[in-house]
Amino acid sequence: MKPQILIARAIFPEVIAKLAQHFDVESNPSDALWTQAELTHKLQGRQGVFTTGGERIDAELLAACPDLKICANMAVGYNNFDIAAMTAAGVLGTNAPDVLTETTADFGFALLMATARRMAEAEHFLRAGHWTRWRYDMFAGADIHGATLGILGMGRIGQGIARRGAMGFGMKVIYHNRSRLDAATEAECKASFVGKEELLRSADHLVLVLPYSASSHHAIGAAELAQMKPTATLVNIARGGIVDDAALAVALRNKTIAAAGLDVFEGEPKVHPDLLTVPNVVLTPHIASATMPTRLAMAHLAADNLIGYLIHNKPLTPLNPAVLAL
Ligand code: 8YV
Repeated sequence: MKPQILIARAIFPEVIAKLAQHFDVESNPSDALWTQAELTHKLQGRQGVFTTGGERIDAELLAACPDLKICANMAVGYNNFDIAAMTAAGVLGTNAPDVLTETTADFGFALLMATARRMAEAEHFLRAGHWTRWRYDMFAGADIHGATLGILGMGRIGQGIARRGAMGFGMKVIYHNRSRLDAATEAECKASFVGKEELLRSADHLVLVLPYSASSHHAIGAAELAQMKPTATLVNIARGGIVDDAALAVALRNKTIAAAGLDVFEGEPKVHPDLLTVPNVVLTPHIASATMPTRLAMAHLAADNLIGYLIHNKPLTPLNPAVLAL
C-alpha cells in the first residue's frame, strides 16, 4: 500500500502527478482554504503533508495527527511550523531554500527601485489623467546608484541583494545580522557589518530580509523608524510582523521616512487600512518568489522532500534533522 499524503493548496498538476507515482494523494485543486479543524481532519491516517507558508503546524494539530511523519513547506520561511513541537512529536519539517534566492533578490531590488523612484504613485497619477505638463520636481525621488544600501538579515537572499547593489549600482553596502559573515563572503558581497543602530542611521535604502520569529517581531517599529533618515526608503520582503505596520503608516504620513515598499504584511492577506491611504508606499501581494520557473522549482523541492523522506528515508532540506536520528 502506498503511503498517504495531503497537498494543502492547489499546485502544479505535474507535481501532483509526480507525487501520485509514490503516494495515495489527496490534493486541493479548487484551492479551498481549510480551517485548522478541516486540515486536522484531512490529515487523519496520512504520513505526509505538502504545505505552503499558510498552514499552521502546531502542537495541537500534531497531537491530533499521530500518523504524520513529515510536513514539507513550499517556502523558504517556515514560521508556520512550530519546529520544537514537531521535533517533540518526531515529525520532520522541510523547507524550500536556494531555488528561490535569485528570483527573490531580483524582486527585492525591483521593489526598492519602484519605491525610491516613486513608480506606483506616478503611475496612479498618470492613469487618473493628472499628467498635463512637466514640472521640475514632479515625482522626484531618491537615487539608487551610489547610495548606501542597508540590509537587515544577511542570509542567501540578503547576499543576493547586496551583490546586485554593489556590483550593479555601485552602492555602498552595509548589513546587520545575528552573526557576522565570514570575511570571504563579505568580500564577495562587498558588504560591511555594522550594528543595528548604525544601519538604521546610515542607510539610504534599507531592505529587510530576516526570518520572522518572536525575537524579530516588530524589529522595525516607531523607535527604529525615527532613527532612519527622512530621505530613506524601507523595503520589506521578509515577513509581515517584522515591521509594525501601524507605526510605519504614521511614519510615512509624517515623512519620518520618505517611502516604503512592502511585499508582506502583518495578518496578510489583510493590509493595515492606513497603509492603503498613504501615497508613498508601494504595495505588492507577497509575490517576491513568484516567477513560474521558481515556483515550479519550489514545488518540486517540497515534493522531493516528501518522496525523499517517506520513500527513501533521505529528505533533501530537513529543518529538524534530530528527528532523523530517532
Ligand atoms: C512563498 C515565501 O510564496 O518562501 C517563502 O518564505 O515567503 C514565499 O516564497 C510563500 O511563503 C508561500 O509558500
